[in-house]
Amino acid sequence: MLRRTMLALCAGALFAGAGALTAMAQSNNAFVNTLMPEPAHLAAQTGDLPLTTSFTAATDSFHDARLDNAISRTLLQLEDHTGLEIARTPTAAKSATLLVTVDGPGEAVQSIDENESYSLDITPSGAHLKAATDVGAMRGLTTFLQLVQTDGSSFFAPAVSIQDSPRFRWRGLMIDVSRHFEPIPVIKRTLDGMAAVKLNVFHWHLSDDQGFRIQSKVFPKLTEMGSDGLYYTQDQAREIVAYARARGIRVVPEFDMPGHAQSWMVGYPDLASGPGPYQIERHFGIFDPVMDPTRKSTYKFLDKFIGEMATIFPDPYMHIGGDENNGVQWKNNPRIQAFMRKHNLHSTSDLQTYFSQQLIPILKKHHKRTVGWDEIFAPGLPKNAVIESWRGFNSLAASAKQGYDGILAAGYYLDQIQPAGQHYLVDPLPANSDLTPDQKAHILGGEVCMWSEHVSSHSIDSRIWPRSAAIAERLWSPQSVNNVDDMYRRLWVENLRLEAVGLTQLSNEDVALRQLAGTAAIEPLRILASVLQPVGFDQIYKMQHTTQLTPMDHLVDAVRPDPPSRHGVELLVKKYLANHDAQAAEKLQVIFAHWAVAGPQAQALMSSRPLLRPAEPRAEQLTNLGKIGVEALLYLSKNETAPSGWAQTQLSLIDEAQKPAGLVRFTVLDPLRELVKAVPQQQ
Ligand code: ACM
Repeated sequence: MLRRTMLALCAGALFAGAGALTAMAQSNNAFVNTLMPEPAHLAAQTGDLPLTTSFTAATDSFHDARLDNAISRTLLQLEDHTGLEIARTPTAAKSATLLVTVDGPGEAVQSIDENESYSLDITPSGAHLKAATDVGAMRGLTTFLQLVQTDGSSFFAPAVSIQDSPRFRWRGLMIDVSRHFEPIPVIKRTLDGMAAVKLNVFHWHLSDDQGFRIQSKVFPKLTEMGSDGLYYTQDQAREIVAYARARGIRVVPEFDMPGHAQSWMVGYPDLASGPGPYQIERHFGIFDPVMDPTRKSTYKFLDKFIGEMATIFPDPYMHIGGDENNGVQWKNNPRIQAFMRKHNLHSTSDLQTYFSQQLIPILKKHHKRTVGWDEIFAPGLPKNAVIESWRGFNSLAASAKQGYDGILAAGYYLDQIQPAGQHYLVDPLPANSDLTPDQKAHILGGEVCMWSEHVSSHSIDSRIWPRSAAIAERLWSPQSVNNVDDMYRRLWVENLRLEAVGLTQLSNEDVALRQLAGTAAIEPLRILASVLQPVGFDQIYKMQHTTQLTPMDHLVDAVRPDPPSRHGVELLVKKYLANHDAQAAEKLQVIFAHWAVAGPQAQALMSSRPLLRPAEPRAEQLTNLGKIGVEALLYLSKNETAPSGWAQTQLSLIDEAQKPAGLVRFTVLDPLRELVKAVPQQQ
């Protein structure tokens, strides 16, 4: 019983910050900055604005339904957060606690030039938010919410003066809904999360080989035959566009072509460059089917289709994909080969550029600027195309040097399962960039990419959040905001704020563990899960031989990328090794002891559960890691020398734990190695 209680305590409170929705201010109400993203300019002032049931918000200049709704959402969130019963709609009273002064609505269709700047002044007597547009006001409202703190007995907003505007105009998040479909509620809560961290472009990857996900009334067989019935109706897509606009977010749809387009060909095989019939592709990778760029009928089809989609998606940009066309069907088709010779097209890349040259004017006719992945960047590409680079800076910089606008995606691929801190340091415009000021102006920003080969509607939140909040800060905040430790300190606070908007990145782990374990008594499993993360895309793909039909109900789908344990243990070990910090030692002792205790209990649980058995070695390894930590700390704290060979034995156990098992990896091996190596040993 006692042990159970201790374990429950441990799992919930291993790392400081992870349990604090509101930053706990010190007793003198000093300003504790948990803002994410950090504003461009912030000056802390003395005093604070108490939050009480008499809190009100008002607009005193322009207002419209979008602004009123944004204020109402803020008031509801404030109420949820503080437990204070407050007026839930904005008033007209100039004496309001939070006065919102907005010049006008902003653009009828939000563009990359939308003014998102705002200022926020909070004094002990009130708060004043000023913005040129609704969108700027929304950015300021999220900052206001993030400022709310408690001194333990009541809530307040610290006195501050903030002037804020984004570093980059294009701060996107892409979701691939083709490999796995994501229902409307998932998309909506993602948009809520994006708004909370000031991301402003939802890039909706709506078609790929594995599924066509939006209804076309002109070409109904696209979804009738290419979607397994999993698609968005046009009304639903319009609902998403409206939901996004209400939050200051643009929606850029992507229709990937000429490759990655097999799902189109199931219903419309004449689009292809090789003989059909075609099926929805169940595997992942690069496949041969590619649109036929030599036939007028292809462009007629695309003209009608894009015209139809333009009535749903008002954004000035549309994404045509263009990536990973292997050209095989083009090489194998004598008619296409003859066409290439006739038109002096020497390679399949030339032919793809020909395709882009026909397609881009069609988009233009429908008032769309074209965005495409790196592969469309080739001699002859019309200059108004925008390049989204998944290959990296050099590729992005090369296109900027030739006058193309660009967006960085490389470095922000969430399916690589990299730590937030690694994504955080990827900058679309690195300080050492050799671009001229004119060329730099072509770098519009960046996009988080959530490819969905290995995500379900249950796991997607934990793949996207909170890591995307770190990337959002990279894209919004000044370049000089780059302290990884401080980012993590704020990230764990932001993580709970993201949960408050309805995201399931934390709760899903417990839900999934309960389902895997077949019991609600999952404490030992939670401790194990707290130091595990999924392996990256390539490893899952190779080790599990995944297809679209692979169930996603294993431990790998339950655990979170970059959980607090990774950076938390690293920090504690660093702190301890630097000066034998007593507090760090105490925390580490508790953590290691709990691993050692939880390991055998987790193992007992896992051995009788078929879906957990493949990861069972991880439980035994957890026990070993706990014991290693406990022993290392004992030697170090007593300043004792370990027997000869001790470190070698421990390091080989750590190496064992590094090996692939159960599609999950430990997050804490490097700092444990450091600890072991620090122990003096008899020769
Ligand atoms: C991509 O990752 N093929 C854009």
